[in-house]
Amino acid sequence: MDKLVIEGGVPLTGQVTISGSKNAALPILFASILLSEPTTFTNVPMLRDIHTTLKLLSILGCPADFDNNVVSMTPCTLSPEAPYELVKTMRASVLCLGPLLARLGEARVAMPGGCAIGARPVNLHLSGLEKMGARFELEEGYIIGRCRKLKGAHIIFDFPTVGGTENLLMAACLAEGDSILENAAKEPEVVDLANFLIHCGAKISGHGASIVHVSGVSSLGGCSYPIMPDRIEAGTFIVAAGITDGELVLQNCPSEELDALLVKLSAMGMHFENTKEGLLARRRNGSLRGADVRTQPYPGFPTDMQAQVMALMCLAEGSSVVEESIVENRFMHVQELARMGADIRLSGHSAIVRGVGQLIGAPVMASDLRASASLVLAGLAAKGTTQVQRIYHLDRGYERIETKLAAVGARIRRKKE
Ligand code: EPZ
Repeated sequence: MDKLVIEGGVPLTGQVTISGSKNAALPILFASILLSEPTTFTNVPMLRDIHTTLKLLSILGCPADFDNNVVSMTPCTLSPEAPYELVKTMRASVLCLGPLLARLGEARVAMPGGCAIGARPVNLHLSGLEKMGARFELEEGYIIGRCRKLKGAHIIFDFPTVGGTENLLMAACLAEGDSILENAAKEPEVVDLANFLIHCGAKISGHGASIVHVSGVSSLGGCSYPIMPDRIEAGTFIVAAGITDGELVLQNCPSEELDALLVKLSAMGMHFENTKEGLLARRRNGSLRGADVRTQPYPGFPTDMQAQVMALMCLAEGSSVVEESIVENRFMHVQELARMGADIRLSGHSAIVRGVGQLIGAPVMASDLRASASLVLAGLAAKGTTQVQRIYHLDRGYERIETKLAAVGARIRRKKE
């Protein structure tokens, strides 16, 4: 297993290019199961989760070439089974369920199981698909779904589930009749999926708002589609500029999708400027102040930025309260930050962070994707050496992060453990 070795204390300066969005690319790639024609995707990030998705799609009958951030997909004869060996490594594999039922009328998808950040059930996916006529059984850890032909339905989500909205959106595109998805997720990645499906001939309206309308069509063609930039990678590099007291310019930064984050970071003392090269991010006048954060569905503060901003709060003056209201166990980074001298107290779904003058480098353990990012950020600011172990978590969602960080001055290198 690899680790990252970081000598902290260097203010990062320069330009960073933001890659394609993992959380847009994953559902869009799974949507290719719906298509009857070849399709090309550009700006696809070279990530572990993308490779896992392409491996799974190849098993399902959608083989693809992946070169230089371009995926060329050729749909073949579909197979209904998504094997446990792959699904257990990536929860988003459940996104093949809706498309398989829509195309084949059957699906055998291993239950995703929990992950480091919680049980993360898929009940809302299943109940929505049942309303469209699917029937499910659970057999030896596999979700077995069957339907004659999915029918359009009016689905009201208990919670604006991102994956649930994406699964149902894809299923509804080929269902018989019209569907309404109410209390749908509004995340930009859901909108990117809808835009891709529309490019392929789907009839969707209202995406990006709470009520989405879909009129089923008999088939979907192919197209060439660019994946949107990754707002969470962008947010992570913005925090990197703040935590090291440097100045970064982010090219391809989707600033308009980061309002809740930028408002909060401005309140903490960061400065932002739109330049012709991209979004400039730095501290306003040297010091940072604590702030309170509650994670919420989009357009609220993104849960995927909670761990990274907590690292910044560790070095801000005063206290911050972080309430994680979306994901049940997303404070795995707290104990590791404490090993570096952070002062954080957990109380239920909240963490109280008291700013300290300095963090001290230490060996720390990555546990999930965004917790790993938080530890890298803390290491960039800490005095001395930080070793972040098990960085395969990080490779799931960040394309060449150490190369990008080193290019703007970080003393960081990957080592075999
Ligand atoms: C997506 O996960 C993202 N993953 C996650 O990003 C992100 O944290 C999450 O949305 C919230 O924004 C991808 O897009 C691949 P949800 P997803 O369905 O689809 C409950 C990252 O770091 N829930 O909105 O799983 C459950 O507690 C990853 O890039 C149910 O109870 O998110 C879950 O934790 C991590 N039943 C919470 O809602 C359901 O059927 C949010 O789930 C579905 C969800």
